[in-house]
Amino acid sequence: MTTILGIETSCDETAAAVVRDGHDVLSSVVSSQVDLHARYGGVVPELASRAHVQLLTPVIAESMVEAGVGENDIDAVAATVGPGLIGSLLVGVAAAKAMALVWGVPFVAVNHLEAHFVAAFLEEPELRPPLVVLLVSGGHTLLVEVKEIGHYRVLGGTIDDAAGEAFDKVARYLGLGYPGGPAIDREAAKGDPEAIRFPRAMLDEGLDFSFSGLKTSVINYVRKHPDVSTVDVCASFQQAVVEVLVAKARRAAREIGAAGMALAGGVAANSQLRTHLLDACEADGLQAFLPSRAMCTDNAAMVGAAAWYRLRDHGPTPLDAGADPNLRIPLTA
Ligand code: KG4
Ligand code: ZN
Repeated sequence: MTTILGIETSCDETAAAVVRDGHDVLSSVVSSQVDLHARYGGVVPELASRAHVQLLTPVIAESMVEAGVGENDIDAVAATVGPGLIGSLLVGVAAAKAMALVWGVPFVAVNHLEAHFVAAFLEEPELRPPLVVLLVSGGHTLLVEVKEIGHYRVLGGTIDDAAGEAFDKVARYLGLGYPGGPAIDREAAKGDPEAIRFPRAMLDEGLDFSFSGLKTSVINYVRKHPDVSTVDVCASFQQAVVEVLVAKARRAAREIGAAGMALAGGVAANSQLRTHLLDACEADGLQAFLPSRAMCTDNAAMVGAAAWYRLRDHGPTPLDAGADPNLRIPLTA
């Protein structure tokens, strides 16, 4: 039995969790800084790092109390080392190394993207690879083949804005506030998705994405038609994003002969994306997995789980390993 304390501070959530043997989540505490950044319309890196410094110790303490474990029960301490905001990452990494050193247990470095993939398995242990995971968040848009935990192949990604970034930028332009995804999701439900035909960039080309042209086209349309109904703009924009995401995920699954598809990242909370992906899986005879909202967004349970596999396959991480804001998905055969 291996009990791991996982720490996540890559962006604007301060999170700690206690996870046993890679699947048993004893606790998962997330303190969101969204209110802190809302007035600026996006995450302010310096404010995020300072908030992590203030919040991390109480969040860790809460995660251990909630799990009913003491320091003697912890077998390893893990932290996200990238990708993310460097100042934010360093807070979690420094804390994890210090605790590992004081408690005399291994430190385990975790790749944030890998943690998102492992999250799918945490809620659905029956999930069978090969799997296509569509990771869509404020910072990432990736289609990845998961051959098994620890073995990934990037199939496609965005060449400009991330999907969540497009939601946030369009929402900001429409005056819907931050974060924009949930606001657009809500407004879109009241509008007509066929009202405006926004472009579907690169729909028939490969497995990469582009969302920056779509954002510009929404802005230009609203400028030209100031009286247009906001709910119709939201519904039509969302439809364009979801159609491209689902079409490419489907093509990816076909190309690799996947057994199923899973969603990850904050945009995976989008109601239209969830129903369309589910319909696509049903039509193509694929297993679908849509994690809960808490498991889609940043949390430390996925870090504690990913760390267990890392420790099993690669052993502890040396304490002189640093944080890397541009860390990529581990390249494996
Ligand atoms: O994974 P996440 O919490 O943070 C990172 O970006 O790492 O994702 C946040 C992103 C934001 O861009 C937010 O607007 C988007 O996820 N989002 C949504 C929805 N809920 C959150 N986008 C579309 N529909 C939603 N319901
Ligand atoms: Zn994330």
